[in-house]
Amino acid sequence: MNILITGGAGFIGVNLVSYMVNKYPAYNIVVLDNLTYAGNLLSLKSVENKPNYTFVKGDICDRALVDKVFVEYKINAVMHLAAESHVDRSIMSAEEFLRTNVMGTYTLLEAARGAWKDAAQDGVRRVFLNVSTDEVYGTLGATGAFTEQTPYSPNSPYSASKASADHFVRAFHETHGLPTLTTNCSNNYGPFQLPEKLIPLMILSATEGKPLPVYGKGENVRDWLYVEDHCRALDLALHKGRFGQTYNVGGENEWTNIKLVRRICELLDEMKPSPDGEGYASLITYVQDRPGHDLRYAIDAAKIRDELGWRPERSFAEGLRETVQWYLDNIKWCDDVRSGAYAQYYEKNYVGR
Ligand code: NAD
Ligand code: TYD
Repeated sequence: MNILITGGAGFIGVNLVSYMVNKYPAYNIVVLDNLTYAGNLLSLKSVENKPNYTFVKGDICDRALVDKVFVEYKINAVMHLAAESHVDRSIMSAEEFLRTNVMGTYTLLEAARGAWKDAAQDGVRRVFLNVSTDEVYGTLGATGAFTEQTPYSPNSPYSASKASADHFVRAFHETHGLPTLTTNCSNNYGPFQLPEKLIPLMILSATEGKPLPVYGKGENVRDWLYVEDHCRALDLALHKGRFGQTYNVGGENEWTNIKLVRRICELLDEMKPSPDGEGYASLITYVQDRPGHDLRYAIDAAKIRDELGWRPERSFAEGLRETVQWYLDNIKWCDDVRSGAYAQYYEKNYVGR
């Protein structure tokens, strides 16, 4: 397989690229990423000298470039992750979300359609795997879980843009027969996540003695999945998923935000006690709630379990501890990603809010 991984320099991307490059030495892995504030080549250091890995810096909206990549690398599979991914940013301005998430996905679909239309019956499976989110379903009340039959009802500009992309992916299968499928996954955590997202933001802010901003009352619930478990699900979907289908992916691991933040503080108290001896939980600060804040996400992952044999493997207790340790051990990486454009945004929107 010659696989194009878009967004391969972002959080899930770097974990996926490293997983695929090491697991499949006979595949060629080509990353296309334009290195926005969220993409960082430092995160791809462990694979940069591997013979089956190529990095192309470029925009998924650039049709000429995308066409060239398909031809030059004989791309027969796409794992599409490139996106603007942060809900809070989409609330401030959604334009870049429309451009990358909707137009970028459309551009890739057209490029795949063009490149694969005359594909001979060469026995090679061609596949366009669209990596999406459970947030397209909107919010749940206190009970129940999203299934693949749950109607799309996105509440944030981010999830609206992802929902739109998912619909185009489906439409290109129905209309043009493109071999597409979509996975809808819950919140990922693990190494290389940008510290604008909840878990790394709390770890780093705590160790720097900064306030830990919990939105509203902290009662919103998220389902957390270790990023490598997500990568295994994407691997299975790529090889065995049915075209035209969607697959929910989740950790069966629901936490209210406040309980999770308190757990991170406890781990830090144990692993890196604060110099003044005060527990990190004293830094928790309740701040103004996120507008349109979805109350609860939960995933029914029966379909991917029954059809593709996937289930989460990493326990949250173990995965969260390892993640906290990873951030403590990788301050240099954190400083690097927090410089430049990201730093300006962070200072303006988070600190002291
Ligand atoms: P991320 O923000 O960490 O990384 C996004 C990557 O895409 C970056 O490397 C960025 O440079 C690149 N990118 C952005 N715009 C681009 C463009 N126009 N052209 C080329 N590259 C571009 O995101 P992530 O958390 O790794 O998420 C990856 C994908 O998984 C996204 O599609 C997201 O919607 C989806 N997803 C994420 C989660 C999660 O918890 N993080 C959960 C479910 C689904
Ligand atoms: P986030 O990591 O942004 O992921 P998503 O919005 O895609 O679920 O946020 C996870 C949860 O944590 C969400 O309910 C919002 C909340 N949150 C805070 O309470 N404080 C913060 O500073 C951030 C970034 C998020």
